[in-house]
Amino acid sequence: TPRALVDRFARPITYLRVSVTDRCDFRCVYCMSERMRFLPRDELLTLEELDRLCSAFVARGTKKLRITGGEPLLRHGVMTLFRSLARHLDSGALDELTLTTNGSQLVRFAAELALCGVKRLNLSLDTLDATKFRTITRNGDLARVLEGLDAAQRAGIAVKLNTVALKDANEEELVSLTRFAHDRGMDISFIEVMPLGELDGPARIDQYLPLTQVRDRLSQVFSLEEIDYRSGGPARYLRARETGGRIGFITPLTHNFCESCNRVRVTCTGRLFMCLGQEDSADLRQPLREGADEVALDRAIEEAISRKPKGHDFVIDRETQTPAIGRHMSTTGG
Ligand code: GTP
Ligand code: 5AD
Ligand code: SF4
Repeated sequence: TPRALVDRFARPITYLRVSVTDRCDFRCVYCMSERMRFLPRDELLTLEELDRLCSAFVARGTKKLRITGGEPLLRHGVMTLFRSLARHLDSGALDELTLTTNGSQLVRFAAELALCGVKRLNLSLDTLDATKFRTITRNGDLARVLEGLDAAQRAGIAVKLNTVALKDANEEELVSLTRFAHDRGMDISFIEVMPLGELDGPARIDQYLPLTQVRDRLSQVFSLEEIDYRSGGPARYLRARETGGRIGFITPLTHNFCESCNRVRVTCTGRLFMCLGQEDSADLRQPLREGADEVALDRAIEEAISRKPKGHDFVIDRETQTPAIGRHMSTTGG
């Protein structure tokens, strides 16, 4: 059995999130600025480097690997990476290989992902109204995403919806999104918007909808029951008795879940961020590129984990003008 990675607050780190590209074909208003510039190719880790990095974590007890972006399915050759990482599922070292996607490329990739051992994926979907979808994503095509959803379900992949709760933009739709999810046998998680990166649209405070309010609203329609189901991520789940389906609540602002944090994330340039809500990071690209052996790479990872902070200190209020964290969500993939 591998030597586990444990931080100084005795939290075992068993969940790695890896961003494979900073590119996205959408520009969600809460995520990216319209003027977002993408990184030059040579800054990105190669597919081989990504594989080595993930494998180094698997060797240290990572059980769950989530591929993110940007939009991960836009990375050239991403299926080569999935095919290669599937060996860790076959060997039993890894419990889960999964991804978070906007769905725009799922029609093309769903069947292949299933063949690579992807059993679940998380699909970002904030509205079922095509016009609102265009507004929120700045020109995304809802129909294409829904076709992608069909393709994933047809391939036997369990899909969970991720919905960022947005004041005005989708707050009237949270019940219908829940019904849509549960009618199709999917879980749905609501997410509080986090103050990451400068926006050029509305201010965060005008987007922010505390999930306490979402829960109140849902409980006018559904009888919500406590359940102790966990998906391995930060969501706390309730069950709606009327549909039998689960609703997750990801509440970094109203109820921080850092105490049970089990994860770290790597950017597409090989920076290891120990916390989504802090600036400290460790460069793993340099050891990867300078021919470090597995021992040196492992030492760099271990050293970084020992610096993992206790938690974030996100706040969203009228007075806070600058975001808590300068980088956008698309840098670390959540
Ligand atoms: P499951 O495996 O299905 O539980 O997924 P997950 O919630 O771990 O991952 P997903 O990519 O679907 O992320 C959902 C939301 O949770 C995104 O907005 C992420 O940014 C957020 N999230 C994931 N991990 C963390 C974390 O450690 N801290 C904070 N603040 N948010 C996180
Ligand atoms: N706050 C909360 N969630 C965000 N996401 C992107 N940016 C933010 C933000 N600032 C969501 C996406 C996706 C997930 C990975 O993170 O909608 O579902
Ligand atoms: Fe973990 Fe940081 Fe997220 Fe808290 S904010 S759950 S410590 S990554």
